[in-house]
Amino acid sequence: MKTAITEMFGIQHPIIQGGMHYVGFAEMAAAVSNAGGLGIITALTQKTPGDLANEIARCKDMTDKPIGVNVTFLPTVNTPDYPAIIKAIIDGGVTVVETAGNNPVAVLPYLKDAGIKVIHKCTAVRHALKAQSIGCDAVSVDGFECGGHPGEDDVPNFILLPRAADELEIPFVSSGGMADGRSLVASLAMGAAGMNMGTRFIATKEAPVHDNVKAAIVAASELDTRLVMRPLRNTERVMTNAAVERLLEKEKALGDDLKFEDIIEEVAGVYPKIMMHGEMDAGAWSCGMVAGLINDIPTCQELIDRIMAQAEDIIGRMNAMR
Ligand SMILES: Cc1cc2nc3c(=O)[nH]c(=O)nc-3n(C[C@H](O)[C@H](O)[C@H](O)COP(=O)(O)O)c2cc1C
Repeated sequence: MKTAITEMFGIQHPIIQGGMHYVGFAEMAAAVSNAGGLGIITALTQKTPGDLANEIARCKDMTDKPIGVNVTFLPTVNTPDYPAIIKAIIDGGVTVVETAGNNPVAVLPYLKDAGIKVIHKCTAVRHALKAQSIGCDAVSVDGFECGGHPGEDDVPNFILLPRAADELEIPFVSSGGMADGRSLVASLAMGAAGMNMGTRFIATKEAPVHDNVKAAIVAASELDTRLVMRPLRNTERVMTNAAVERLLEKEKALGDDLKFEDIIEEVAGVYPKIMMHGEMDAGAWSCGMVAGLINDIPTCQELIDRIMAQAEDIIGRMNAMR
């Protein structure tokens, strides 16, 4: 299938694996790229820009297909060395960067000068228009369903995607709640040129996370996510567990007085415990409502082949209706 996104990124299928903290290692990105999608390494999971350079090199040893790097600008306790991160990406020969969390205008000129395509992840049409106006090549439109940070507007993809299509001139992919060929065809129908998936790619054989994480996603229904940190205007959709329920109790008790320090135990430094050691109650970890549509743990190749076959089948059946 050829779309503006497959052409722009030089990939076979219009499917992207979004950056994911403690999931987006070289193994994950290479598996997705080798299966014909675009795999993305998560820069901030690497402790230093030097580590990121090594991770990019490791990934390039595993695939000769295009790969991307996610650069997230989020409120973190210690600001990362973004100039050095950008240098590692450029020197590493990466062809696509996914930016997220805040306006990427400060890093854009360096990436564009290096010929790197930039796709910015947005949760609102106004942010997507801003990304277009500063020169981003594409945007990833993340609806309220998504795992991770859906923003504060709570607009689901059935509204957000057609709104984006009506306003944008640059290509965009759908993100949030995407799982299968139905998601892809629906995204194309609403004007997207492909789709981005996070949670679905965690439940794959190659995802370099503990088996407990994959099992939790397969076991979860669409009712098992919660929104945390809304009082801090840093809303995150996470899988419910004992730590999340404790966090929500604190939010209820403290109301508008809630500060980050009050919930630090439930959110700071928990990803390695969960993703690497499988301690499923260690804290809050991002997970999308789409967990309710995930029932197996295929390889990335099996997953992407299945999505494309289902999408082609649906398109064929729709054509036959005319
Ligand atoms: C465990 C996990 C970690 C994530 N970490 C990041 C991140 O560090 N930076 C980022 O831009 N997005 C992050 N995301 C969001 C994904 O890239 C993607 O936009 C989102 O998962 C799409 O929604 P879905 O899970 O319904 O597919 C994360 C998502 C998950 C599930």
